[in-house]
Amino acid sequence: MDKDNLEGLIRRALDVRLKAYAPYSGYLVGAALMTSTGKIYTGVNIENAAYPDGICAERVAVFKAVSEGELHFDAVVVATANGGSPCGSCRQVLAEFGLDTRVYLVDQTGALALATTVAELLPGAFRPEHLGK
Ligand code: THU
Repeated sequence: MDKDNLEGLIRRALDVRLKAYAPYSGYLVGAALMTSTGKIYTGVNIENAAYPDGICAERVAVFKAVSEGELHFDAVVVATANGGSPCGSCRQVLAEFGLDTRVYLVDQTGALALATTVAELLPGAFRPEHLGK
């Protein structure tokens, strides 16, 4: 991913973050996922009064993309107040679609907190291969 693409993806994550529905935690998260075909799908965390029914921004972005037939992801930018890291469930969902997806964590100013990969975030991931797929 070149510098312009990354800056654009960061901008999308920062912008969509403001649409997060997080009245309980107050912790807004925005995700922008770039497919290998160059399309961008965004997501926000969506909380619920029944707390466990909320969902993270990263999974919203992945599920939106997959529901449009996209299965290959180059990169995801996750924007939070403080550069927070994806939860275990989001790591697992990302791992389903590739360990090489690059993951960029940024704070609310867009400053890069960490550049990593799904493989680094979830060593030893349970994968489709384990089910013979
Ligand atoms: N959250 C995300 O959206 N992504 C993560 O990977 C970590 C946590 C959300 C879930 C919840 O709405 C809020 O952040 C606080 O946990």
